[in-house]
Amino acid sequence: MRHSPKGVSIHPDFDALAAAVAARLITKLIDVQNRRGEATVVLTGGSLGIATLAAVASSPARTAVDWQRVNFWWGDERFVPADDPQRNARQAQEAMLGLLPVDPARVHPVPAAGEAADVDAAALDYARALSDAAAEEELAPGFDEADPRLPRFDVLLLGVGPDAHVASLFPETAGARTVGATTVAVHNAPKPPPERVSLTMEAINTADEVWLAVAGEDKAGAVGLALAGAGPVQVPAAGPSGRSRTRWLIDQAAASQLPERLFEQHQLEG
Ligand code: 6PG
Repeated sequence: MRHSPKGVSIHPDFDALAAAVAARLITKLIDVQNRRGEATVVLTGGSLGIATLAAVASSPARTAVDWQRVNFWWGDERFVPADDPQRNARQAQEAMLGLLPVDPARVHPVPAAGEAADVDAAALDYARALSDAAAEEELAPGFDEADPRLPRFDVLLLGVGPDAHVASLFPETAGARTVGATTVAVHNAPKPPPERVSLTMEAINTADEVWLAVAGEDKAGAVGLALAGAGPVQVPAAGPSGRSRTRWLIDQAAASQLPERLFEQHQLEG
């Protein structure tokens, strides 16, 4: 199995972290657009994920990105109606997408309740939308798709739950064990709402860069276990691994259970 270096950056608190992830994301999108014309980002929900999007939308540097040529997907979604405030896509729309000149044709939410017959159909429809986008994608020379079923993901953002879930892959559940598919329908998520759609770990790990952004002391145990190399079924946060890079972007509270040896083992960044 391929392992990209896991860089860990520690920031003072939630707000500083959201601002730092936003700044990195803007810079990354500019770099990718310079190299290949367009850029594709996979968004996350969660309080930090949405605060990051709000920080992007209010950053003066946002104007350096050509928002018309950014493709948006989601790592997971709650299977509730499209206008439900719990929807990651709706929250992203309000925090960022609705405030920037994005191309609506490049925004790809997971089908909502009411759009797909049930959560299983939503997961299949989302997998189909991804593979259709992959089939249509024309990549600049030197860039490739990691998987013919998926478009190229330049950056994939993830939050981490206190139980160490990522996207909607919860510990010791069928979703965390799924192989051979790009998406999975989740029926009994331990965190409400119970029905969700998630990218699988194998889909997450096709991304060029995976960024795990985590704030809060309640996540410290999960972060410690993930970086100590726990198994990805028991500790899903241990599973994500970008093809080029895996970044852990965390605040001091979330870093409070990183054992000393991990500071030596993993590359610590400023
Ligand atoms: C969800 C979220 C979830 C989230 C983490 C962290 O649907 O539950 O997508 O994966 O990212 O639980 O959430 P917070 O940033 O709010 O702690």
